[in-house]
Amino acid sequence: MPGTDTAVAAPQWRDTLLDDHAELRATLERVMPCLEVPLHLPWIDAIRALKRERGALVLAHTYQSPEIFHGVADITGDSLALAQAAADCDSDLIVLCGVHFMAESAKILAPHRTVLIPDREAGCSLASSITAADVRALRARHPGAPVVSYVNTSAEVKAESDACCTSANAVQVVESMGADKVIFLPDNYLGQWVAGRTRVELVLWHGTCEVHEQFTAQQARHTRERFGAVVLAHPECGPGVLAEADFVGSTSGMTRWLERERPARVALVTECSMADNLRVRFPETEFIKPCNLCPHMQKITLPKIFDCLRDLENEIVIAPDVAARARAALERMLAVGRRETV
Ligand code: 13P
Ligand code: SF4
Repeated sequence: MPGTDTAVAAPQWRDTLLDDHAELRATLERVMPCLEVPLHLPWIDAIRALKRERGALVLAHTYQSPEIFHGVADITGDSLALAQAAADCDSDLIVLCGVHFMAESAKILAPHRTVLIPDREAGCSLASSITAADVRALRARHPGAPVVSYVNTSAEVKAESDACCTSANAVQVVESMGADKVIFLPDNYLGQWVAGRTRVELVLWHGTCEVHEQFTAQQARHTRERFGAVVLAHPECGPGVLAEADFVGSTSGMTRWLERERPARVALVTECSMADNLRVRFPETEFIKPCNLCPHMQKITLPKIFDCLRDLENEIVIAPDVAARARAALERMLAVGRRETV
């Protein structure tokens, strides 16, 4: 890793910030209370300077707060797109603004680059629902059944899996295993949704996303009936919500749906920062915003990104044998391709 000395000063207010970042300021004022914007500008300005000095690239998930997504990210996208960007980019230093499993996936696909995460404690209820030992026990109970793991898992769990999948390609990956029975983990709701779209028998785990499981079918119905909005839901939601949705898709699938359909009014039944982030890209669409924030995604803040870049701290380190096996599972998914099914 490069040395930690830096000439960039700690963030401070100066009047010229408003003009220096006029375009960004206008963008942020559309998606957050305008009084908050000046609080973010010194951090954004200092982080941009640090990025230049370090030659670092900031990757941010679609669920990151708008000041991160619009203010400091060089590349944005879903978890797989970020991992692939980490592998393909020119920078040797990557700051991944997202949760821990996403930073691990980036490191697995870009083993020679330094990957930092601004807060190591940014976890995920799905990833923490299962351990490598649980996967070995499932294999012992279902001999011969291949294991497909959602990317929302730790590197150790990926290393015990035959292939990974995202919510965008889960059906294809399951079917590509060429087996009558597949162990699918850890998301029970995504698993149920996939099971409804394939003849392959799925053995499911009991993991859930603590954010998406909170949505109810009544909420989805009310949003459509009361506000006339088209309802798009992430397949981590429960079956009742998915049955109510007009379209079910991954974060990238929902974005592509919006590009195609350009609805007048939409409700995204998913982490609510996504609506703030997409609203800028689809100005003609009115977004009915849910209020479910992922507490893990919210752990990533501008001050933590600044500290992480300044001190080059929180590097992702994965044991080489674990990384090699996890990479094989991710590469098997990539070989299936990202032809979207949801
Ligand atoms: P994506 O794989 O679509 O980025 O979603 C990750 C996630 O955490 C959804 O809750
Ligand atoms: Fe995990 Fe759910 Fe947060 Fe996504 S939204 S990172 S699945 S807890």
